[in-house]
Amino acid sequence: MARVIVVTSGKGGVGKTTITANLGLHLASKNYRVCLIDMDIGLNNLDVVLNMEDKVIYNMLDVIEHKCRLKEALVQDGTYPLLFLLSSGGLNQNLTITLSQIKSVINELHFNFDYILIDCPAGIDAGFKRAVSCAEEALVVTTPHLSSLRDADKVITILTSYNITSKRFVINRARGDLIQDKLMFDVHDIGKTLGIEFGGVVPEDDRVITNTSQTINNQKFAVNRAFEILTNNIITGEKKLFDCTYKYRGFLGSIKKFLKRSV
Ligand SMILES: Nc1ncnc2c1ncn2[C@@H]1O[C@H](COP(=O)(O)OP(=O)(O)OP(=O)(O)O)[C@@H](O)[C@H]1O
Ligand SMILES: [Mg+2]
Repeated sequence: MARVIVVTSGKGGVGKTTITANLGLHLASKNYRVCLIDMDIGLNNLDVVLNMEDKVIYNMLDVIEHKCRLKEALVQDGTYPLLFLLSSGGLNQNLTITLSQIKSVINELHFNFDYILIDCPAGIDAGFKRAVSCAEEALVVTTPHLSSLRDADKVITILTSYNITSKRFVINRARGDLIQDKLMFDVHDIGKTLGIEFGGVVPEDDRVITNTSQTINNQKFAVNRAFEILTNNIITGEKKLFDCTYKYRGFLGSIKKFLKRSV
């Protein structure tokens, strides 16, 4: 049976899709069978982030309407054959998809995958409800900014009325230089505010945009090391921390901080 994890946030643009894609790639690189479901119906972009856009022929609605078999709608990754995407591309928002229809698709996937990751839309309306109703675990993504934290806090409260057995927070776009100088909330502040388990920290890094399935395991890049730790935390339940302040310590660190802020 698969672990079904929804990646949610409340606030838009904080990195749900980025984290869903990278976590999926890292899990598949460790030989887990992973299915990513884009539930951001209408504003889907998981296919774009995964570079699978051209390969999507059928989507979840086609499966629900029996236009194709579920197997035909699953797009396989070129580098990690254990990674699949079920897109929601091209769905007409006016069409009403019932929760039970989506749940029956997920039930069919349950036995063929180890992990099903659901990319949730922003907000707390119908799309959010649909996505979280299908999951048993939640990753709540937040950036270390007050507006994002407030929305994450609200979402965590709302999640208590769903059947979610495990909730972890992930801090995205953490800036080690600012955290080091106490100009940005750190993991302990955020943990105390949100009051749920720690999942991981992902640094602010443009590499995340250009990363491909061929390069995700390159440990030279801090963002890849951070996703590696996050992935292991999800698999094992550990709470290891990626320390994004390490390169800003000491004399050399001060120079790096100065250079980072003067660009
Ligand atoms: N750690 C990071 N470092 C730098 N850029 C990032 C990072 N994480 C995400 N981004 C960028 O931030 C933007 C928003 O990310 P993403 O689409 O994953 O957010 P989202 O929460 O899924 O948004 P939405 O609510 O619209 O679905 C993208 O351009 C992405 O490349
Ligand atoms: Mg998204």
